[in-house]
Amino acid sequence: MQHSSSVRLISAIAAVGGLLFGYDTGVISGALLFIKETWTLTAFEQGWIVSSVLVGAILGAVLSGNLTDRLGRKKIIVITALAFFVGSLATALARSPLELMIYRGLIGFAIGIASYTVPLYISEIAPDDKRGALVSLNQLAITVGIVLSYLIDGVFAKVEHGWRYMMGVGVVPALLLAAGMLLVPETPRWLISRGHAEKAKEALRRIYGDCDEAAEVSKIRGSMLHEEQGSFRELAAKWMRPALIVGIGLMFIQQATGINTIIYYAPTIFQLAGFESEVSAISATVGIGVINVLMTIVSIRLLDKLGRKPLLYIGLCGMIASLAVLGEAFYSGSAGGALKVVSVLSLIVYVAAFAVSLGPICWLVISEIYPTQIRGLAMSVATVANWGFNLVVALTFLPLVEFLGTAYTFWGFAVVGVWALWFCKAKVPETKGKSLEEIENNWRRMSTEP
Ligand code: BGC
Repeated sequence: MQHSSSVRLISAIAAVGGLLFGYDTGVISGALLFIKETWTLTAFEQGWIVSSVLVGAILGAVLSGNLTDRLGRKKIIVITALAFFVGSLATALARSPLELMIYRGLIGFAIGIASYTVPLYISEIAPDDKRGALVSLNQLAITVGIVLSYLIDGVFAKVEHGWRYMMGVGVVPALLLAAGMLLVPETPRWLISRGHAEKAKEALRRIYGDCDEAAEVSKIRGSMLHEEQGSFRELAAKWMRPALIVGIGLMFIQQATGINTIIYYAPTIFQLAGFESEVSAISATVGIGVINVLMTIVSIRLLDKLGRKPLLYIGLCGMIASLAVLGEAFYSGSAGGALKVVSVLSLIVYVAAFAVSLGPICWLVISEIYPTQIRGLAMSVATVANWGFNLVVALTFLPLVEFLGTAYTFWGFAVVGVWALWFCKAKVPETKGKSLEEIENNWRRMSTEP
């Protein structure tokens, strides 16, 4: 099959959904400082302004898993873009902390949907040998969205009511996503699963240009032969169980090794390490965001060559080592200036190691390992797990630091990392270069082996 560049362009358009995910989760870290000037907020209210996004994301992932299978991938991304648009506008104009919380919840709802629909959409249009790189464009867009949010926070920091602009800027990518998605086709796999073979052929022509559409359609059909209608019963079937555990396990690892304590609280951690001014703490944070982007690019170049599992091992080892050092630096604490240097260096290694491994690979693998008709549902279960674990870590991080101390908290994340090495070795399949059909057949074979 000849791969035209349109598959790349279509994937990039869908990945704007990832950019909104990153922007809208990152923007609050800076905006919160200024929201506190508009209203006097209790710690509890602040906590909820941050966490309402996560609660919304959980709901989004729960409610729309099944919708994506019923209405189609494309339509759901368009609706999501509109929710991002309305949410960004409404948060910018919010008249009370309660309104802000509710509208942030709406944005979270959109993030929850986008976080699984975008990788799902891309994985279904991507050719097997480029799937890793194309699906991971979404993760790249997330990291770019995070850095943009840090930078935009900086730009509006000195403007009166600047936080309203920080929130409002989100309407621009939302409009781009809505307009872009109206121009791209639905995925051929979804169309076939709904019995629209002719439309699927048309979609194949638009995505790949010249290709043997009839052969592609029968290949996709072949993989659907054994499949019943997607339902929770099918999802709980014995042969699907290991795949379900892999999805939920990877999401647990991605969140419980602590990435978002860095993404959401990096300035606080830098201050704990002795950076006195807010400006220096925030600049160090932008640096961390840039490393996140650059190393995601490195990962995208390596994913389809080295494979997913080797990158997981390398990344996890880097994360464990840097967390251990960071914990030690906080434990012995007294070294003054040395603590600053060690904390910055270990956070750089940590984020770099996350960005080459758990960042892109968890989302990628859950878009690859489930059969088509339950893929939407199964991915949404893994996505709900991701946001659920994210919420638990976000809510418990500061109390844990208070209760156990910073050192033991980071060591705790490192212990999860060691367990994760075992989990990846024992449970996660290598999906590099395999067709979605082959991956599915492997699970079936495993379930019948004694
Ligand atoms: C994770 C997010 C995280 C981001 C950081 C994503 O893969 O799901 O929770 O904030 O990576 O780059």
